[in-house]
Formats: sequence, structure tokens, C-alpha cells
Amino acid sequence: MKFDTPAGTNPIDQMKAVGRAHPRIDGALKTTGLAPYAYEHHREIENVAYGYIVGSAIAKGRIDTLDTAAAKAAPGVIAVVTAADAGPLGKGNFNTVKLLGGPQVDHYHQAIAVVVAETFEQARAAAGLVRVDYTRTKGRFDLDAALKTAPLTDADKPGKGEDRVGDFETAFDAAPVKLDAEYSTPGHSHAMMEPFASMAAWDGDALTVWTSNQMINWGHSDLAKTLGMPKEKITLLSPYVGGGFGGKLFLRTDAVLAALGAKAAGRPVKLAMSRPMMANNATHRPATRQRIRIGATEDGTITAIAHQSGSGDQPEGGPETAVLQTQLLYAGANRLTSMRLAVLDLPEGNAMRAPGEAPGMMALEVAMDEMAEKLGMDPIAFRAKNDTQVDPADPERRFSQRQLVRCLTEGAEQFGWSRRKATPGTVRDGRWLVGMGVASAFRNHINRTSGARVRLGRDGVVTVETDMTDIGTGSYTIIAQTAAEMMGVPIDAVEVKLGSSALPVSAGSGGQFGAANATAGVYAACVKLREAIAGRLGFAPTDTVFEGGKVTSGTRSVDLSQAAADGELVAEDKIEFGDLGKTWQLSTFGAHFVEVGVDVYTGATRLRRMLAVCAAGRIINPRTARSQVIGAMTMGVGSALMEELAVDSRFGLFINHDLASYEVPVHADIPHQDVIFLDEADEKANPMKAKGIGELGLCGVGAAVANAVYNATGVRLRDYPLTLDKHL
Ligand code: MOS
Repeated sequence: MKFDTPAGTNPIDQMKAVGRAHPRIDGALKTTGLAPYAYEHHREIENVAYGYIVGSAIAKGRIDTLDTAAAKAAPGVIAVVTAADAGPLGKGNFNTVKLLGGPQVDHYHQAIAVVVAETFEQARAAAGLVRVDYTRTKGRFDLDAALKTAPLTDADKPGKGEDRVGDFETAFDAAPVKLDAEYSTPGHSHAMMEPFASMAAWDGDALTVWTSNQMINWGHSDLAKTLGMPKEKITLLSPYVGGGFGGKLFLRTDAVLAALGAKAAGRPVKLAMSRPMMANNATHRPATRQRIRIGATEDGTITAIAHQSGSGDQPEGGPETAVLQTQLLYAGANRLTSMRLAVLDLPEGNAMRAPGEAPGMMALEVAMDEMAEKLGMDPIAFRAKNDTQVDPADPERRFSQRQLVRCLTEGAEQFGWSRRKATPGTVRDGRWLVGMGVASAFRNHINRTSGARVRLGRDGVVTVETDMTDIGTGSYTIIAQTAAEMMGVPIDAVEVKLGSSALPVSAGSGGQFGAANATAGVYAACVKLREAIAGRLGFAPTDTVFEGGKVTSGTRSVDLSQAAADGELVAEDKIEFGDLGKTWQLSTFGAHFVEVGVDVYTGATRLRRMLAVCAAGRIINPRTARSQVIGAMTMGVGSALMEELAVDSRFGLFINHDLASYEVPVHADIPHQDVIFLDEADEKANPMKAKGIGELGLCGVGAAVANAVYNATGVRLRDYPLTLDKHL
């Protein structure tokens, strides 16, 4: 189905199953431990050996000798595989460096060998016996130093290093009120609960890998490319994923080494990355250095806005696109955005939840707060004054739907914003200095082709099959809701099969595009199934109604299962997108409100209240959507107050590479959270009229916290995380 005109009325509008706060259909499986994760597929395969990864102990250089003799002779060891043993390996399209390094070493803890043994303990012990001699070469680990000579990068729009509208410099010089400020954000680690884990089994030249991956088709292609195998010979399975946050968008070393280890051992192998290896072996959100300049007239009209960001990555890596939202969020005739990309020999940077916008909004929305103060305006009024309903670079392109101002004003009402004191440092509650902060939320909505197959069985059960993943987001549930709505059956009459490369290729889980696109693909397949059912019953497709488990046309009505009495009906289709997303700017909006207390003696910040108001099109399931948003708000608190990959710039590694030293919020850090969804349906986005929500909930939270800390204390911090030492 090609989606190239606004949706109009369709069966989803009935909202009998879609739009309901249905609990997760996989909830019981998960809470009882019956949902198998990558490391747990014991029922499918027997005689499984254990793999353990050896990571490089240097950040940059060469391996001179890699002596595996002692490891191979250790008790229980079945095989040891290094790059030299593995034969030529390719590099996946989505990988910056090789997933099995050697002799060249690209970063600290890059995998250089895998040890396979009868037990996990034996594999781990033998890994310690692998002897490696390195020649270390000088690496580039200091972002600030590297940025001094870093070139502009054109990763956002090919062919350009800067994006300009009007004449920023002249307008900024002439502006009566202006801000020129620098902000920094550190590297972030995905720190998902389930580590990178894979289980691999060979059957002749055919390979099955159970893994933990957000994007089955990308992982499938890249595994084939890396191993030099035809895709058809590989099955990639990822039915349950214990969190990813972007870290599992791509094929990682666990899947490759499980496959290589299993081949060498002649047995199935399972392998989970140890927690202390995750931060340096895998990807992270790169640190940024951002400069924002805003010029305005006395009445608060922005006349000039510039956002420039620098980040670093491995030689073939890309930038953290922290400036992109600034091209769309506020009006202003004269604009400049640009990015610089430095070469670093730290581990690979890549996408982490809301890549670009998450750290970009942490800077932009503090700058807006600072500017509002300079103008003597309320921060909400300042944002509202500079709202735009069109792309500032192309006034012909309107937003499909944009209720940013309503999010801000309704949130203000709910949160009691009028009680905020404009003068910072003036509200005291015992030992706490109390402040409120606000930030806009913004994240683009992305359309992606997504396919599905739907079956109607003789028992009346509707089965949906797609390679979509559920990374804890609720995909199983919203897909069941979509099929239930389309086929007119209760949700428990729908079975959902996900996460297999044998199933139709979906949008996958990433970039907050999963829910809307994957369900739109299911919608498309259901439209075909409805036609097939009407056809078999001899009903006219246009006036056939699917409702209450029945198919009705005029005076004729039969049970849905009747349609399949002569055999199962199967339909497959995919949603594909025309130019609507080019004609219209598809984005999601929101507002984040927080209240903090800052301890007047220690400078420690505690959250007191949080509210998010989101406008993201139709909300397919308010319960799972709320879970996405409160989880994202929690992550936003982490980015504001504690998360930081600390760089050891002598040896080139992240030194706090475990959950004891890479701090993320725990329950005690998070107060009551409220989430409000505006009642929207975006008919230009897709037939579901839904957009993304999972990353919107994060974008802006860090800045709202920072603005609240300023309102509490009068100390403006621009260097995240806002740890207590920075108040001194
Ligand atoms: Mo998200 S960083 O695209 O999983």
C-alpha cells in the first residue's frame, strides 16, 4: 500500500482496540520469566558451549603476538578464535570498525578473540590466559583538542558544511538583545538491562543466531556481510529484547563471535558480553561541544539564531547531529547551523535514544531560558512568540500538525507554572532551594517502509507475522490492537509473531519510528486480508464490515472463522510512503516541566515533580505510550544530573564502564511523573494517524532540569551533568 494522500476515514478510527490502554499481551510471559531472551533459548538447542570475549587492552596500535596456547590447554576449552583464525571477515554497513579486531586495534576493548569452553567459568578463566603483546601508537582521545582542527561535516545534508538562511552574522550584530553561550554534553552509555547476547547454532552451512537486536533486517544483512555468507543461509531471531536505546540498532560483536565460536567448536555457542565490556566494546552517544547564539528585538522576536556543534568519532564515523532541531523549532529570519567532526580513537560513537536532538535540546532549551531572562519574558511566552507553523527554511512546507504552544500552555496550567518566581534563588523549603523549569520537546517523525503478513485460521485466530522487534516498548500489544481493530475481533483472538528474519521486513525499532510504521504495515496487510475474506465470501469489499467477530455485508453476516472454513487465508503487504513527508514536515512536539530542590549545603539536586505534555498524533496505546514517556523522562534526569562517560585521555577508554560507576537514575531519584497526551490524529503521517513518542519523552528533559536548577539557585550551569561540585 502506497501512502501518498492524507488518510481520511478508515477502520482504525473506530478506536475499539486502538487507542485503548491495553496491558501488554506479553506481560505475563515476561514477569514469569517465560519470555526467552537471547541467552535463554535452551529449549531450542542442546549441547551449548559458552563463549567469552577477549577485548583489546590498548586503544590504538597493533597486536604483535597473540598467544592462545595456554588458553587452548586450559580445562574445558573447546576452541579459541582470533581474527587470524577466522579468515577474512567483512564489515557491516552499520559498523564503523571491525567487530573482531586484529592485528590492527581501533579502540579499547575492541574484541580480539573469543574463547569457547564447556562452562562460562572455564571460558572466562581461559580468556585470562590469552597472552597479547601490543605495539601501542599515539591515539587522539581529547575532544576539545581534536575539535580545534576539526573540519565541518555535511552529514545532515550532503554537499554542505553549514546550513544558512538569510544573513545570520549581520542580523545577530544588529540585534538589541543577544545571547552567545557554550554548552557541553558528555558521552552517554546505553546501559540497557539486557547485555549484548547471542546464541549461535550451525546446521551444515546454515546458521541460526538468537540475538538481542532492534533492527532484524539490518542485523541480518550485516551478519551475512561480515561472515561472507548469503543472507538466505542465516536466520536471525530476536523475539524479546531487554532494552536497546540504540545500542542494539546494529549488528554487534556478540552475534559475530557466537557464530565464529560455534563454527570452530562444532557446537552451538552462547555468549553474553560482560557489563564492564559494554561501554568500550559497543557504541555510545558521543560527547558534544555546542555554541548557541540568539539575537532578538526588545519584544522577544528572534531575528537571528545559530547553533554549532562539534563531536568526535572513529575515522569512518559520523557526527552527533545536535543542531538539527534548531533548523525547525523556532522562527527567525536569519539562521545558521553547522557541525564539526573530529577524529577520535575512542570507542565507536553512534545512535543513542533521540540521537542529535537529545543533546541538542539540552543546549538549545537552556539557551532559550537564558534568552527569555535577558528579555525579561516568561520562558513560555518567549517560546510561544517564536512559534512557527512552517519550516523556517522553506515557508511552503508546513508542519503536518504542530501544537507546541498548546503543550506549553496546558502544561503550565497543570503544573502550576504561575507559582514560579521569575527571580531565581528566592524559594526556600527548609534546606532546599526550590525552582521550576520548562523546556519544549521536539523530535522528528520518520516514515519507513514496513511489511507484515496476516493469517486468518480456521479457528478464527488472526496471526500477524513481521520481523518487527519489541524492545520493551509494547510492539506485541499495539500490533495486536491494530489487527484486532482491522479484523473486528477481540485482542485475545490475535496472535503476534515478531523478531525473525524469516518474516516480512518491518520498520524495526529505532528513531521512535517503530510503533507508527510497524502498525501501519500491519494495517496494510489487514486491508488485503479483508479484501481476500470479502472475495471468498462473495461480498462486495466496499461495504463489508468487520465487527464483533463477524463479517457483514448488507443483510448477510457470518462468523469471521467461517471465511476460513475452506482453509487458512493469508495476506501480505507493506506500507510504503510517497511524497507526503516531503510536502509536510512530520514532527512531534511536547513540553517538559520539572520542579527541583537543590540542597543549599551540598548542592545536590533532587527532583520533586515532573510533567510531560506530548502531541504526537494518535496514541495507539496510552498505557504503553506513557511507559515510554516516563522511561524517557527518567533517562532525561540521568542525562541532566549523573550520566557521563568519563574519558581517560591517557589510555583512551571510558573508565566508568559498569553500573556502579556509570550512574543512571534509580527509583529513589525519580519523583511522581505525570504525562498528558493531547488528543491528536495526524492523517498526513500514515493510516494509523500516529507518530513517534519514545524519544520525544526524552528531548528537552535535561534542559528543563537545568532551567529548574537555575531557577532554584541562580547559578547557570552549562556543562552536563549538573553534579553538585559544579555549584561551587
Ligand atoms: Mo534509537 S537511538 O534509533 O534506538
